[in-house]
Amino acid sequence: MILGTVGVLGAGNIGVGVVTDLVLHGISAVVVDLTTDILERAQAEILNNIRFAPVLSKTLPRASRDEALQRITLTTDLQDLTSCDFIIENVTEDWGIKKPLYERLGELAPPEVCFGANTSCISITQIGNASGRPANVIGVHFMNPVHLKPAVEVIRGFHTSDLALSRLLQLLSQLNKEAILVEDMPGFVSNRISHLFMNEAAFVLQDHVSTAEKIDMIFKKCFGHAMGPLETADLIGLDTVVHSLDVLFESYKDPKYRCCPLLRKMVHAGHLGRKTGRGFYTYFAG
Ligand SMILES: NC(=O)c1ccc[n+]([C@@H]2O[C@H](COP(=O)([O-])OP(=O)(O)OC[C@H]3O[C@@H](n4cnc5c(N)ncnc54)[C@H](O)[C@@H]3O)[C@@H](O)[C@H]2O)c1
Repeated sequence: MILGTVGVLGAGNIGVGVVTDLVLHGISAVVVDLTTDILERAQAEILNNIRFAPVLSKTLPRASRDEALQRITLTTDLQDLTSCDFIIENVTEDWGIKKPLYERLGELAPPEVCFGANTSCISITQIGNASGRPANVIGVHFMNPVHLKPAVEVIRGFHTSDLALSRLLQLLSQLNKEAILVEDMPGFVSNRISHLFMNEAAFVLQDHVSTAEKIDMIFKKCFGHAMGPLETADLIGLDTVVHSLDVLFESYKDPKYRCCPLLRKMVHAGHLGRKTGRGFYTYFAG
């Protein structure tokens, strides 16, 4: 079954990337968020990504502005997702927000529709339970920037069915992405490890061992990473990093996941990274 229309719930940092990738690959997206303001801002970012995609990648398909606009439906009504072949959820990494949404999605969506949970750390089995149809829920952990990443971490929950897996693999093949399948534990592989790096880098900065630039430079120049941990945290969004650390801490009850006070203070100060123009680094719009 070729997927023609995909629902995207949550049009923030990663939701924008998911819609960009869908639209570039000729898939229509029904995009749901809380307000029309948020949706319009997201659409402007998606159009900007599509405009610059040819500069950043020679292999991505092209889409004109008009084609992109034809493929995007913006809505604040969850009910509009009922016509979609598959739903990708990317709302805030907060169980108090995700749980009631999955309860509603489970009631609203036709029984054969599967949900891809694009969570950073929350257990897919826990999400499946809230949806009331755990066989249809699978984890799909996209990385930022979504349209430029060749692979995705796919997480099989305790009850995830072969049908949900095959629907997701179909979608990922339409997006020309490789799936790396792992089992379900909070944080999966990627964030269970990467959040320790990012959190400890913030502690190193807090302890005045080094500057943000030098911390990142050691990862790039000595370890050969494409980005350092503090740049990565800025790209993800410091609020999402803090939410994820809190989920990991709560899930494992292991002090190694206690959030660095500096990280939390930056979130309270509204310095969320690239999305607000200031985090460990300062960014300029445009
Ligand atoms: N940022 C990343 O690099 C990244 C990567 C992979 C996965 N994720 C995960 O994706 C999810 C979203 O992360 P983000 O960084 O995009 O966060 P974000 O804060 O940038 O965006 C979250 C969006 O969800 C919307 N939202 C909140 N409640 C909603 C509701 N009830 N109905 C509809 N929309 C609602 C918000 O308005 C916002 O636009 C989180 O679970 C996060 O862990 C993030």
